[in-house]
Amino acid sequence: MFAPRRAAFSILVRSPWRHCHRSHGAAATKLSVREALGTNVDRGEKKVKIQGWVRSVRSQKEVLFLHVNDGSSLESLQIVADPDHKSSAIGFGSSVEVCGSLMRSPSKKQNVELKAEEIHVIGECDSKDFPFKVREHHPPEYTRQYPHLRCRRNTFSSLLRVRSAATSAIHHFFQSNGFILIHTPIITSNDCEGAGELFQVEAASRDRKPEGDSGFFGVPAFLTVSGQLHLEIMSGGFQKVFTFGPTFRAENSQSRRHLAEFYMVEAEISFTDRLEDIMQVMENLFKDTTAALLSTCPEDMNLFFKFVSPGQQSRLERVMKNNFIVMSYTEAIEILKKADTSFQHRTEWGCDLKTEHEKYLVRHCGDVPVFVINYPYDLKPFYARDNQDGPQRTVAAVDLLVPGIGELFGGSLREERLHILQSRLDRLGLTDTYQWYLDLRRFGSVPHSGFGMGFERYLQFVLGVDNIKDVIPFPRFSYSCLL
Ligand code: 4AD
Ligand code: MG
Repeated sequence: MFAPRRAAFSILVRSPWRHCHRSHGAAATKLSVREALGTNVDRGEKKVKIQGWVRSVRSQKEVLFLHVNDGSSLESLQIVADPDHKSSAIGFGSSVEVCGSLMRSPSKKQNVELKAEEIHVIGECDSKDFPFKVREHHPPEYTRQYPHLRCRRNTFSSLLRVRSAATSAIHHFFQSNGFILIHTPIITSNDCEGAGELFQVEAASRDRKPEGDSGFFGVPAFLTVSGQLHLEIMSGGFQKVFTFGPTFRAENSQSRRHLAEFYMVEAEISFTDRLEDIMQVMENLFKDTTAALLSTCPEDMNLFFKFVSPGQQSRLERVMKNNFIVMSYTEAIEILKKADTSFQHRTEWGCDLKTEHEKYLVRHCGDVPVFVINYPYDLKPFYARDNQDGPQRTVAAVDLLVPGIGELFGGSLREERLHILQSRLDRLGLTDTYQWYLDLRRFGSVPHSGFGMGFERYLQFVLGVDNIKDVIPFPRFSYSCLL
């Protein structure tokens, strides 16, 4: 049995902000929990200071055990203290600063532990009122009600670390493959997707509006639904560009894969005239990012594989080691027509693929992601390139469908031929609005293509998370904008 050595100074301070200093606070090195856990203590004890939130308290006759977490790792640091430290102020959820000696742990559960000499409670936490209870499983629907506190839960804290690592891996992927990052605007005067799912932006206060009825910007302005058109501009001066930022859709949907505010990763590549060129980049982006996550945050990923979505690890391995499948929209409709399932929505050539269709197609292909290419002309926005395989029959557009989610990426070759684009815009009555877009085809036009990936759907898919609201810090959707 481990018998704690009595510390020279053993004090508990409940003042709002008093640091360890009586014993050796000044000499102690401040470490994050992750750094403390990774410290080599074989060459003797090390005086350290850590700060974080108490995840558990276990009091025995001879010793007090605390687990302290500061968000730097899934694993908490075990604090071993003299029972004199016991106090009602040190409870689940309270914030503390602990100084003491980092040493090898006699237990097999962890390599190191911190023998506390001073424990300072920085902020108390009333366990009766705190919405989370120690060692209790709270379902995601419950946790979601507390967006201001849910980063204290292991699962959400792991999610946020994975999200951060994925952001960095995506930037690395593009930067190391010669793409230039473009900050496309959040406020824009165009509707890239033409689906009318726009949020309008206007000054809230009357006296901030300029004279007249023209509104703050003088033209109707909206939150962007996609950075594509601005990226297309930049692809007129660079071969490869990308953007990664928030996008907004006023979709009246509470579904488990739609948000009103979500992050999109978009790329545009000049001098490309085959869908294969972007499909390869999409597959590489997916696989390189996922491989980076598996190697940089294995503990966080494992938490999801073990507790959130059992079986997810092998599902993901299958996706990683197989080439993604390619089929045409026409083939997809043939498969759906022969399906022994009855779908809620129509499955005729010309109909949009709904989630139920997308999921069926992926299952049909052995749960490997499927690129569906060459969609009917009328199903895709004005910018998609006409395949000219019949009068306005199909366009060179591609969606990547993945298991359990459906559409993860959407992309296309862009219509770079001035006269074809002009007549499509004429028919849609958009010629005036898109003069600048036509200019891009007038002045040194090149064949180009691009795609967008929903970042939250990516996280949902990789981690096996059922609801998109649980992979973003502050979800916004119809009738909900907490905080
Ligand atoms: O298919 P979408 O609408 O494509 C575009 O916006 C193109 N302009 C992108 C481009 O080519 N640069 O959206 C791209 C992806 C979808 O495949 C989906 O993963 C995600 O964005 N997405 C959403 N994610 C969460 N909530 C929503 N409401 C989403 N709408 C689209
Ligand atoms: Mg789409």
